[in-house]
Order: sequence, then C-alpha cells, then structure tokens
Amino acid sequence: MSYTYGISSRRLEVASSIRYYSLPPLLEVHMRFRGGKSFAAGGGSMARAWLLPAILSLLFVAGMIVSTVDVDHFSNATDQHKQQEEVIAETDLQQHLDQPIEETPTTCLDPSGPQPYILMSLGRSGSGSTWQVIGNLSGMETPSDEYTGGSTKKSIKFFEGKGHDDKWLVQYLCRKQRKYRDAGLVGFKWKPYEPIFNAPAAHAGINTIATLKDPTIKVVRLRRNLLDVQISRRKHTLYTTKAHCMKGDSKCLQDGLITSLDLYTGEMDTLYKHLESLHAYEDRVDKLLHEKNVPHVQVTYDRLYNVDGKGGDIEEWEKVFSFLGVGPASNLTREQLERGMKHAATHPPGHNMTLANYDEVAGALEGTEFENLLHRRHRRV
Ligand SMILES: *[C@@H]1O[C@H](CO)[C@@H](O)[C@H](O)[C@H]1NC(C)=O
Ligand SMILES: *[C@@H]1O[C@H](CO)[C@@H](O)[C@H](O)[C@H]1NC(C)=O
Ligand SMILES: *[C@@H]1O[C@H](CO)[C@@H](O)[C@H](O)[C@H]1NC(C)=O
Repeated sequence: MSYTYGISSRRLEVASSIRYYSLPPLLEVHMRFRGGKSFAAGGGSMARAWLLPAILSLLFVAGMIVSTVDVDHFSNATDQHKQQEEVIAETDLQQHLDQPIEETPTTCLDPSGPQPYILMSLGRSGSGSTWQVIGNLSGMETPSDEYTGGSTKKSIKFFEGKGHDDKWLVQYLCRKQRKYRDAGLVGFKWKPYEPIFNAPAAHAGINTIATLKDPTIKVVRLRRNLLDVQISRRKHTLYTTKAHCMKGDSKCLQDGLITSLDLYTGEMDTLYKHLESLHAYEDRVDKLLHEKNVPHVQVTYDRLYNVDGKGGDIEEWEKVFSFLGVGPASNLTREQLERGMKHAATHPPGHNMTLANYDEVAGALEGTEFENLLHRRHRRV
C-alpha cells in the first residue's frame, strides 16, 4: 500500500542524510515525531508505533559512527563546501517532511465491486449454512473459507505468519473481489478465537475494518443458543455425521437426526462451566467489536432458522441484507428464503427429544442465567 511505501522511502531519505551529516538532536526528535504520527495515521497499529523511533535511533547512532569515519576520510573537503551540503540536506529533509501525510489509507479494494464482508461466529453456530443463504439471496454463492483458521491452534498459526499489518485481510478481500466480480458480496468466515484479541496482525485487521470508508468492510456477527452449540459439539464428537445435510438427502437427514443424546450426564457442573465460559467469551468478542467501532450487525442462529417450527424469521434475514446493502432488505418472502436455503435442519424441534437427560439438564439450569436456553419446541432465543 502506498502509505507503507511513503514511510519506507522517507526512512531511506532520513537514513542517507544521517549517514553523511550527523544531524542536530533537535531535528532528530522532530523526525521521530513526524515518523510516529504518520505510522499511526497510516497503519493504525499501536504495536508498530515504537518500531520507527527505535530504527531511527539505531540509524542515528550508526550515522554518528559512520559520519565520524567519513569526516576523517574526506578531511580535505573545505568547511564551506561541507556547510553548503548540510544546508541542502536539511532543506531536502524539511521539504520531504512537509509533504502532506496521507490520512486515509489507500486500498486495492474496489468501492464499486462486490461488498466485502466477514461472517464472524464461533464453531457450530451455523455459519456454513448462513454463508450459503446470504450468498444465494445476494446473487452468487461463493466458497465459504474459514480463512483465519477453524480452531484456536490453526488461528494462532495463521496470525503468527502475518506480521503486524493488515495485508492478510485487505489483499485477500481484493483477490476475492477480482475473482467473483459478479457477486453481490465477497469475504470469509472469521472464527474469533483467542488471537483476535492479541495477535498484532488481527489487531491491524480490526483497525482497518473499523476505519476503512470506501468501501467499508462489514461484519455479520452470528451467535447461537449455547446449549445447542454444546449439543452440536457433543453430537459431532460421538457420531460421524456430516456438518450439513442438503435438502432432500434423506439418508443424510436420517443419519444426522440424533435424538436421546447424553449431555454430560452426571456432570452438570461441567456443563454449567462450559456454558459460562462460552458465554463470557462470546460477550468478549461482542465487546471488542463494539469498542473498536467495527461496523457490524448482530444476528442469532435461532432467529435465522427457528421460529415456532416455521423456519427462519424473515425480519432477521432482512436485517442482515439491509445492513450489508445487498440482497433482499425488504419484501423477502418465505418461499424465496426457503428456495435460497440449501441445507436442511438435522436437529429435532425440542430439547426433550434431543436429550436423553433432559430432566437432569433442566434441573441443573433452573434458576440460572441459562435457564431459557432449554426448550421443548422450536422457539426464538
Ligand atoms: C439459489 O438457490 C436456488 C435453489 O437451489 C437456485 O436455483 C439458484 O440458482 C440459487 N441462486 C444463486 C444465485 O446461487
Ligand atoms: C416492498 O413492498 C412494498 C409494498 O408492497 C412496496 O411499496 C415496495 O416498493 C417494495 N419494495 C421493494 C424493494 O420491492
Ligand atoms: C416434548 O415436549 C413437547 C411440549 O411439552 C411435547 O409436545 C412433546 O411431545 C415432547 N416430546 C417428547 C419426545 O417428549
């Protein structure tokens, strides 16, 4: 990106000036300030802000040493000549620093191309199906990649190799825009595992999402009933059922419809602790999006897919499309929605059918903040 090039050429300029003329300390401080400011304005990365001053200080020290050597070497140069060169160098430097600093980062993203978006949800929250429906109803189904990794381990590995900037995000979205020119939306699924809070590249990415204006990068934040997340995890650990069943695939549906599942039988404390930590984690992700001013919309799996056994809530889907600015933001019909959904639900309508130990779970959650997660029939949560 151009602001990066701007910084590095400035750094080179400064470095070469230092090499031949040891600069007065005042100027050096000035440069540090300007350098630090342009970094913050361009990359927005706090983690990198210390880097430039550090490099400049090192170059300054190195420059002192080199210039001492140089002065000895060119001792035949007249004082007048030297002074003249110093003035020219300082003027060059001043002119360079006085050039306006680019405040908004330029980007390879095309404002008139497909809208870039990110679907953000933890595992077993229905993001695969949601990605498919959003694609279908916005004009083109594009592949749904868990680009940043489908587990904590993979996510850590992913961000480890991405340094301190947002290239991993912006360049990827640009490639998607070019590859699927006719799509209404392009992007990826971001599973917000731990690195979202502490990896420098993730931080840079979040900052870009929060600040980029033309085009904006939008986040659809999806949460699901955490009891269902637990049930789904348990189900996929115990059985080798497919992640999704296509409508009409009766064999898949039959295999996938697991009933009478044991959910931590005899270990209600464990169940409760899992619910508690998942809940806190999801809240932490929401807080991050909120605090960083990330453009996002909050939706729940339960509203998107289950309303009193009737299927998805039309308004919840319209909320998504209205936020994204692409697809049916109004007048979406149930038929349209049904046609666009390729996956079929593989969970029974009520937890009393899903769970073998329904009564035990009901007893354990009664009177807690998770009481309302349990239900006997399809219900909005
Ligand atoms: C959406 O799904 C329907 C039904 O499967 C299909 O006919 C249609 O071509 C899909 N639309 C897009 C844009 O993929
Ligand atoms: C939605 O329906 C209303 C009422 O029938 C109509 O006035 C409006 O133009 C429709 N909007 C779109 C986007 O089709
Ligand atoms: C689950 O509860 C609902 C509502 O009370 C009831 O209609 C249904 O028969 C129950 N299902 C089973 C398998 O117990």
